[in-house]
Amino acid sequence: MLRRSTAWLEKRGVESPRLDVEILMAHALGLKRLDLYLQFDRPLSDDELDAIRKQVVARGELRPVAYLVGKREFFSLPFHVDERVLVPRPETEHLVELAIERLQGVDAPVVADVGTGSGCIAVSVLHAVAEARGHATDVSAGALEVARSNAERHDVAERLAFHEGDLLEPLRGTADWGALDAVLSNPPYIVRGDSSVEEGVRAHEPEAALFVSGDDPLEVARRIAEAAREALAPGGFLGLEVGHESGQAAREMLDGLGYGDVALIKDLAGIERVVVGVRA
Ligand SMILES: C[S@@+](CC[C@H](N)C(=O)[O-])C[C@H]1O[C@@H](n2cnc3c(N)ncnc32)[C@H](O)[C@@H]1O
Repeated sequence: MLRRSTAWLEKRGVESPRLDVEILMAHALGLKRLDLYLQFDRPLSDDELDAIRKQVVARGELRPVAYLVGKREFFSLPFHVDERVLVPRPETEHLVELAIERLQGVDAPVVADVGTGSGCIAVSVLHAVAEARGHATDVSAGALEVARSNAERHDVAERLAFHEGDLLEPLRGTADWGALDAVLSNPPYIVRGDSSVEEGVRAHEPEAALFVSGDDPLEVARRIAEAAREALAPGGFLGLEVGHESGQAAREMLDGLGYGDVALIKDLAGIERVVVGVRA
């Protein structure tokens, strides 16, 4: 079953067919991946075969594995994910690391995660910084439901408020406006014509999570940076994930908007992934 499904997925252009089949089979059978090898001669019932086939066929349609198994690990925590949210990416962990590091020593910090999706950024930061509280915003009510379930799962829901609306706007007029210690975001930054976007991502992940409306990858990032100048406390910082060719432009954007100590952080592949600036 493993061998045949792997070959079938390979023909359909799946990048890591063997690994994907192992994950999907283990999930369908309620086993660990290793058990597939320990029980290699176990006969499969018709129901089990049927469950595996359904998963493999869906993967053949390039549906992300994370949606098929309903979870993805991020910053060493399991997150529930489904079609309502972007699958958390490992490169976003750099933004979380930076935030946790900079919040050390801040007394009872307050953070905002703009475009929270699965909640992976806000939940990971609050999980690591016990005295922090925060706000998570998203235009998608479905995404906020997923984020809330993840916050509950990791015991931070009492310290995290959820807001449906445009970027930082839901926080305007609240007591935390002008007093935030950190504004964090992994905003949409893909231009629709970008041919490097994988077919499965384009077909199955939410459009609102991926694409900007025009041809400027920093369109949404710029709106966040403009609003964050007012939303942050003096000395508070803005951390944004940016697309792989936008690092220098993002640095110039934050410089131009009057942020201080603007810096770029590279990911493990050496790509400038996160831009950070401090409200003067
Ligand atoms: C790239 S995804 C990031 C999700 C999550 N923070 C992560 O890193 O995996 C961007 C998120 O921003 C949300 N979004 C897009 N435009 C928005 C807007 N104008 N206001 C608030 N959220 C927005 C999308 O619904 C999506 O959940």
